[in-house]
Amino acid sequence: MESTVISINGKKIGCPVGTSVLEAADSAGIHIPRLCYHPELKPHGACRMCLVEDEKSGRLLASCVTPVSGGMSVQTDSKAVLRHRRNIVRLMISEHPESCVVCSKGNRCQLRRVAAELGVGEPELYPMPHVNALDQSNPFIVRDLSKCILCGRCIRGCKELVAQGTIDYSLRGVDSRPATLHDHPLTESSCTFCGTCVSLCPTGALSQKKSAFSGTPEREHDTICGFCGVGCSLSLG
Ligand code: FES
Repeated sequence: MESTVISINGKKIGCPVGTSVLEAADSAGIHIPRLCYHPELKPHGACRMCLVEDEKSGRLLASCVTPVSGGMSVQTDSKAVLRHRRNIVRLMISEHPESCVVCSKGNRCQLRRVAAELGVGEPELYPMPHVNALDQSNPFIVRDLSKCILCGRCIRGCKELVAQGTIDYSLRGVDSRPATLHDHPLTESSCTFCGTCVSLCPTGALSQKKSAFSGTPEREHDTICGFCGVGCSLSLG
């Protein structure tokens, strides 16, 4: 396989052509925060948390959707990168309900982790939380779309990993959210309640019914398949 060399934070890294900058950084043990990226899914470039700065052009690039190219040189923690990452997290938090204490995701919430990593604490911008009715209309999954950050991991997982395509983006702009066709309840859709979307969700927008609001955070690799009763030990957390 053809390979190339790029520089990340001044460190020369050899990687196969076609690798993304994010994967190249991971292979060298250089941490770049991410929210919409998941190694099992096609990269999507939605959250911009993985921004890096191209040292030659000064442009900010989403590293999960930027392939490496020979001679490329990027910084993962430049002033501009950190400023933009913090602003994005501030905006996400301003739209997020202040309910971490009773959220089923608990300390596994990836938005919470990234915010802590960037030193963003209490909402710093005018809070404008999404208002969405809690959907508990099926036996397995609780949907709290007020906590959705539109990373699209549930949508891509449903399409790419279980070939169901039950959910997709609905509406536009501030009203955008994942929904079933015609917004039917999950029980009236093609959903098999395999739990893939719950496992992939980085926040508390999707939870298993048994753990939602119980104060007991979900286990990392739970499955909630209601059909075979065996449990396939999905490990997508
Ligand atoms: Fe790259 Fe979301 S992780 S844009």
